[in-house]
Amino acid sequence: MIIGIPKESLAGETRVAILPAEIKKLSSDLLKFKIESGAGNGSFIADENYAESGAEIVSDVYSDSDLIIRINPPTEEELSKLNNGTCLISLLAPFTNHALVNQLAEKNISSYCLELIPRSTYAQSMDVLSSQATVGGYRAVLNAASHLSKFFPMLMTPAGTIKPSTVLVIGAGVAGLQAIATAKRLGAKVEAFDVRPAAREQVESLGAKFLYMDLDDSAETDSGYAVEMNEEFIRKEMELLHDAAKRVDAIITTALIFGRPAPILIKDYMVNDMQPGSCIIDMAAENGGNCELTKPGEIIHHNGVTIDGTLNLPAQVPYHASQMLSKNISKLLTEVIEDGKIKFDLENDIIKGCLVTHEKNIIHEMTKNIIEGNT
Ligand code: NAI
Repeated sequence: MIIGIPKESLAGETRVAILPAEIKKLSSDLLKFKIESGAGNGSFIADENYAESGAEIVSDVYSDSDLIIRINPPTEEELSKLNNGTCLISLLAPFTNHALVNQLAEKNISSYCLELIPRSTYAQSMDVLSSQATVGGYRAVLNAASHLSKFFPMLMTPAGTIKPSTVLVIGAGVAGLQAIATAKRLGAKVEAFDVRPAAREQVESLGAKFLYMDLDDSAETDSGYAVEMNEEFIRKEMELLHDAAKRVDAIITTALIFGRPAPILIKDYMVNDMQPGSCIIDMAAENGGNCELTKPGEIIHHNGVTIDGTLNLPAQVPYHASQMLSKNISKLLTEVIEDGKIKFDLENDIIKGCLVTHEKNIIHEMTKNIIEGNT
């Protein structure tokens, strides 16, 4: 079987789906890798490194690969290059990218969707959302630190004592917890809020202060995701966040609801009340943003406050982001490939969880229901 790795075409993408170390481990007489020349350049991995690992460097990976592994969903042009009857592993945004899912089914492409890998303990090592959220949370803090005109840590110097900056993290999931840990390491005072009661202990165990509000156990689904909160809850939450916004130097927002637009938690009047020189890093920008004023993909200034809606933060830490992706994907490959062949065994929870299209059908129930408008 031939596995092809194309160079990512998305603007600003620097990551690569698999590193030479994993190619070396997985290659065998039954499994060969082809990689598009230059695919690793953005992560500072040269073609020669891939060649040494046993991969063949080619200009076109699509023509004879049985399986294509990508990070970002294929463009129309890339989709047209995928051969009928082959397999694709990629992020697909299947709940919003209906045209892509339909076309994959029509072309008889079997697609494994990286976003849909179950969030079980067993599948944790394959979970690209978690690994990339970790990278993003780290980078968000570095970006906040570079926007501020202040130090993060407290400093006692002959030139006076500097007060530490205060950072507010909204949403304490994977990205938020990493942001809290990174901001603490840089010496900031950190406060955080999440709707899931389980998050409180995690926030406090990192030495941050959890903002107090009555929480409800039903705010969390069985898979650990937050549910969409009602208007009354969001109103009270915004009151809590408004008070905090007036005093903090940086806000990092990570609040997301799986498969839904990000909840708006910071309104323009709240930004107007922030201190001049403060900043908001809106990690939810990809899903519209948690701040009403965020412009996804842009850094703007409003009343002296920097609002950073930069997309794809993991691409700003390309080497380690790719290393983590590569581990996730190689674990997934060992799950779905047996004796040089791809398995489509729907008894396997991971395969059942993330196989979206197969044999010309959309077989992932939730995706199918959303596309057919049944939910
Ligand atoms: P996410 O990226 O979907 O959401 C980020 C955070 O935003 C979540 O913590 C969520 O509770 C929070 N949020 C949503 N609405 C909010 C609001 N109105 N105000 C404040 N916060 C709000 O979630 P993520 O980070 O992917 O995972 C969430 C949880 O899922 C983890 O903390 C963990 O418990 C569980 N998980 C389990 C995994 C496993 O077992 N393999 C892997 C990853 C996550």
